[in-house]
Amino acid sequence: MTIKRLSEWLQTSTNTVILTGAGMSTESGIPDFRSASGWWKNIDPRAVATTEALTENYSLFHEFYKMRLENLEKAAPHEGHQILADWEQRGIVSLVATQNVDGFHQLAGSQKVEELHGSIRSIRCHRCQQAASMEHFLSKASCSHCGGKLRPNVVLFGESLPQISWHTSMEAIKKAELVLVIGTSLEVYPVNQLPMMTSGKTVYINLDMSQHATPFDLKIEGKIKEVLQQLEV
Ligand code: OAD
Repeated sequence: MTIKRLSEWLQTSTNTVILTGAGMSTESGIPDFRSASGWWKNIDPRAVATTEALTENYSLFHEFYKMRLENLEKAAPHEGHQILADWEQRGIVSLVATQNVDGFHQLAGSQKVEELHGSIRSIRCHRCQQAASMEHFLSKASCSHCGGKLRPNVVLFGESLPQISWHTSMEAIKKAELVLVIGTSLEVYPVNQLPMMTSGKTVYINLDMSQHATPFDLKIEGKIKEVLQQLEV
């Protein structure tokens, strides 16, 4: 019933925006953050995902991101990512705003993507901002320009979001007729404020329903790939 209703909404909406989180990539074999097997169940985010971690405990910081990059090498986008890319090509989706840093939406073919938490696939110097190679980062080399610490281009806790991505996503969501929020716990500010900025319909697709699901017009509890496969658009 809910699947049928969402199919109808997708067919009639002239402006649909998607917001995704780490649950989008778990079926590709990438752990999320807050599920039983999520990163933050085993590692304190303060120890690895903050600017303090980077400056004061670079070894652990580096080990964590190296591990995540190695994980990524073994994984690929799944059919759910491809369905969203197909929707964009057919003019059904106008933007995918994502908290994910894995680049899987783009690899699956989505072109209109805003990476609200940056990208793990590009590297820069924390001190002078100069771009550096992945090889340099993986070998734990220092910045060849200033000797500073190299880091992936992700948003660490305590850092602000990329302003252009944030504004583009916010404006798109405000104007959308339909917003699909997929695979995010909505625990993290400020992205968790975005879904309720729209005057359009809101849909939450997730494995579990927390209190954050309450205000959504439609809630679908299930695995993302299966849900997206069932939709008739
Ligand atoms: P979370 O791990 O907080 O939430 C992922 C959600 O997806 C959970 O509610 C899961 O139940 C759900 N989920 C997992 N696999 C699923 C599947 N196959 N089908 C449906 N639902 C599934 O991840 P995010 O909300 O993305 O930021 O986390 C937000 C931010 O917190 C991340 O971008 C990261 C993290 O700290 C930074 O590191 C700055």
